[in-house]
Amino acid sequence: MRIAVLSETDGAETRVSATPETVKKYKALGADVVVQAGAGAKAGITDAEFEAAGASVAASAAEALKDADVVLKVRRPAADELSGAKPGALVIAIMDPYGQDAALKSLADARVAAFAMELMPRITRAQVMDVLSSQANLAGYRAVIDATAEYGRAIPMMMTAAGTVPAARIFVMGAGVAGLQAIATARRLGAVVTATDVRPAAKEQVESLGAKFIAVEDEEFKQAETAGGYAKEMSAEYRAKQAELVASHIAKQDIVITTALIPGRPAPKLVTRAMVESMKPGSVIVDLAVERGGNVELAQPGQVVEHNGVKIVGHLNVPGRLAATASSLYAKNLYAFVETLVNKDTKELAVKWDDELVKATCLTRDGAIVHTAFQPTA
Ligand code: NAI
Repeated sequence: MRIAVLSETDGAETRVSATPETVKKYKALGADVVVQAGAGAKAGITDAEFEAAGASVAASAAEALKDADVVLKVRRPAADELSGAKPGALVIAIMDPYGQDAALKSLADARVAAFAMELMPRITRAQVMDVLSSQANLAGYRAVIDATAEYGRAIPMMMTAAGTVPAARIFVMGAGVAGLQAIATARRLGAVVTATDVRPAAKEQVESLGAKFIAVEDEEFKQAETAGGYAKEMSAEYRAKQAELVASHIAKQDIVITTALIPGRPAPKLVTRAMVESMKPGSVIVDLAVERGGNVELAQPGQVVEHNGVKIVGHLNVPGRLAATASSLYAKNLYAFVETLVNKDTKELAVKWDDELVKATCLTRDGAIVHTAFQPTA
């Protein structure tokens, strides 16, 4: 069994899909690991460290890919990245499959079995493989760090001989994995923290972190969670009520961090231009949903924009801003999944195609798109 770790071709990607720690574990599973030269450079991992862990280093992607049974990446490989891949090879990455029909077809045409890690079911057995959680947690932390770096004032209350500095007010919109970590981080820095979400379960979690929960708690709110624990898209009527409540609250905030997402849908617009204009100059907004259409009306992907003195931060790939930590957790998520695909006695790949984790994540196989949620419509 041969496992290839490819470099990322997207210039914005800093993470890598394996670490020396996971290389050692793959070796213990009986695999040979080949790492493309430089794959870990942006995450602070040298080729020599991979070699010391037992990997061999290949000069090119083609060389790494040759004869590989398993191909690991952070992002979905483009069609040309897989030329030369063995038919039937397992390609495992964050595939970003929604609305990407042509890309899915190219994976099918490459005759690889492509697995989307972000489709992993959120069941106890798969928690260790949950890349959405491992990366969102870091994004939530980093959002607070990025916000405080842009903010021209201190966060905690300080009583000094020269006078008292008030604590900053931080409002977190969306209290899922990223939002809860943002709340925890903001609290550790000493901010006065409030948060909102449309899922009723979030209320208790927010309060347990010492933040105040702010939401329109009507009948629709009480039903607003899918069986999978995700948010539903809310009605126009609810959104109007939510916007009214949020508008008066936002005007009093120093920092707003938005993290709201709905799986497979554009991010809900939560902060309007008028709300931005209601904030004091010097305030900061961080939009963690900017890659999915954004929660904030004026946010620009990849930019920090200023509007009436309010900075709106729209960094891309926020987990990648902590490349080493994000890679370390992502690589462990991948290892935990790959381990379930291997027969420990024969040390060979033995994919159980009817396993619920495999069925939930497998996009393509034997030249076809097999996932029911991504069947071509035409
Ligand atoms: P997500 O990344 O899909 O969305 C982030 C947050 O935005 C969610 O809390 C969502 O309710 C919220 N949101 C959506 N629309 C909103 C709106 N209009 N206004 C305000 N907030 C809005 O969610 P994430 O972080 O992936 O977590 C979803 C849930 O899954 C959470 O309850 C989390 O605790 C749970 N979870 C369960 C796991 C497990 O059981 N293994 C693992 C990870 C998360």
